[in-house]
Amino acid sequence: MIIAIDGPAGAGKSTVAQRLARRLGLRYLDTGAMYRALTLRALREHIDLDDEERLASVAADMEVGMEHVSRRRPPYRVFMDGEDITSAIRSREVSAHVSQVSSHPLVRSEMVNKQRRMAAGGGVVVEGRDVGTVVFPRADVKFFITASVKERARRRHREMAKDGHDVSLHTIQQEMVRRDYLDTTRQYNPLKRAPDALLIDTTGENVSQVVGRLSSLVKERAAREAR
Ligand code: DC
Repeated sequence: MIIAIDGPAGAGKSTVAQRLARRLGLRYLDTGAMYRALTLRALREHIDLDDEERLASVAADMEVGMEHVSRRRPPYRVFMDGEDITSAIRSREVSAHVSQVSSHPLVRSEMVNKQRRMAAGGGVVVEGRDVGTVVFPRADVKFFITASVKERARRRHREMAKDGHDVSLHTIQQEMVRRDYLDTTRQYNPLKRAPDALLIDTTGENVSQVVGRLSSLVKERAAREAR
C-alpha cells in the first residue's frame, strides 16, 4: 500500500504522516527532506542555485535515507551520504532557499526517480507536495492536508521556539506565505490537490484527532478494496 500525503508548509503533514506510518506499521518517506538535503549540500558547496544541471547531477549522486531511531528526538533521522542532517536541514537558510532548488525540472525528475525507487515494494506513507499528483498518481489513498495560514505559522513558530530559534510569528507567517506562493505557482509540478485526494483541514484539531481520522479512512478504503 502507498499512502500519499500532500499539503502546504506547516499544515502538520510530517507529524501526522509519521504517526500514521507507526500506527499502520508502514515505512515513512519525507520527500521535502530530500529537497532540503540537496539545498543544504548546494549551500555548503557554494553551488549556484540556478545551475540546474549541476544541482541535478549532485542530486543523482547523493545518497539520502531515513531511519527511525526510537531513542532520538525527533525519532525519524535523515541521512545524507552517511551524515545525520536532521537538524541542519531545518535551518532558516535551507528553508529560505529550498523552493528555488526544488523549482528546477531536472532536479525534480531526479528526485521523483529516487522517490519511486525508495518506495518500491510499497508499505509506505509518502509525504510531500506532488506525491499524489506526480510521483504516485496511482497511490492507494491520497490525502491533502491543510490548515489556515495563521494556524500553520503559529505551529511553526512554536516548533522553532522549542528548538531555540528566536524568530517573530510575523516573520514566519510572511516566509510561509512566500513559500506557499512559490510552491503553488512554479511551472513544473506545483503543489496542488489531486482530484481524488481527500481534503483534511486540521485547523483547530490536535494530532491524535487527525491521525485517528486518517487511519479510519485508510482502513475503510482497504476494506472496500478487499471486497
Ligand atoms: O515539507 P518541507 O517544508 O520540508 O518541504 C521543503 C520544500 O521542498 C518545500 O518548500 C517545497 C519542496 N518540496 C517539493 O517541491 N516537492 C516535494 N514533494 C516536497 C517538498
